Amino acid sequence: MKYVKPYMGLVKQQLADDIITEQGLLLLSKGHILTEEDIKAIIIRQIDRIAIEETRTSINEYMNHLQKMDPEFYQLYDTCLTTVEDLFQSASRQERIEQDTLFEIFDDLMSHMVSVPHLFIQLRTIKDIDHYTMQHSINVGIISALLARLMGLKGDEVIRIGHAGFLHDIGKALIPSSILQKPIVLTDVEFETVKKHPRLGYEILVKNEIKDPLVLTAALMHHERLNGKGYPLKKDGTNIPLVAQIVAIADVYDAISSERVYKKSFSPFHAYMELHQIAFQGELNAAIVLNFLQYISKLMEGQEVIMNDGQKATVILADPSEPHRPLVSMSGQFIDLRKERNRYIQELLIPMKYET
Ligand SMILES: [Fe+2]
Repeated sequence: MKYVKPYMGLVKQQLADDIITEQGLLLLSKGHILTEEDIKAIIIRQIDRIAIEETRTSINEYMNHLQKMDPEFYQLYDTCLTTVEDLFQSASRQERIEQDTLFEIFDDLMSHMVSVPHLFIQLRTIKDIDHYTMQHSINVGIISALLARLMGLKGDEVIRIGHAGFLHDIGKALIPSSILQKPIVLTDVEFETVKKHPRLGYEILVKNEIKDPLVLTAALMHHERLNGKGYPLKKDGTNIPLVAQIVAIADVYDAISSERVYKKSFSPFHAYMELHQIAFQGELNAAIVLNFLQYISKLMEGQEVIMNDGQKATVILADPSEPHRPLVSMSGQFIDLRKERNRYIQELLIPMKYET
């Protein structure tokens, strides 16, 4: 156990001792997993130190652990980030994009992710607000390739769809960062400016003689929606090519699960629920989304999680129709989250199994 001053970063940590108020009342018991509400209650009562277990690994600690365990991934991700930064800078100055080495590092990163599939679930936790668009490009590339593979596509096509995801937002290089990084809701005029990025991206790629039609299509059409409510072309249904549908899902998923200047990140499970909802509202391809959620849920079976009420549970079995609402075991009872709609999984408690 260790004693720490209460702060919001202790969410999901386990209490190593009871917390007693000045009035002698029991506020929280030993073994309880702290939620945001608990920590607010502790801070309001001016309790200056609490005991927490040291043995339990939070996701952030896991990422530090991964950094040591998988330096290759971190090295590749870091180098890839530098490549994307250079790419966006060249594009913003209307300079020529260096194509020869453009995909080299990204392809290495993609192959690494294929051999360690659990890694992509943790992508959101290495986000850095200042580099959002660059990290988003890498993540959308990786997730797009994974979605393509899950849809049964093979070899070269998977790689090309990865490239399509990687370059989908290149048009944002020409949108002022004062708009992209604005911490509050955009005005209508600003939003109209942002909506220019698909066409701008397409033009940048054409000017640089990037000819792969999958890459060009994704840049132009990743904001089209199946119900026709997207932009810039307002295409609908099967008029939207598969690559644009795949990149759209990767884009939405990464955006939902990421920390932005105007919002905190959602847990992966919250992101799955959102994605499921958006797909079934008719915006995204529900078959691809279900494939994606089923794949993730299979990885989750047997993992310990924290529920939205702060209690611990174990994922037992995911149902194919609502894979983000699996059967869980909690305090010796089985709970079907498809039926208990007020409960949901808040966060992974113990890191995903790590096998290379
Ligand atoms: Fe975009």
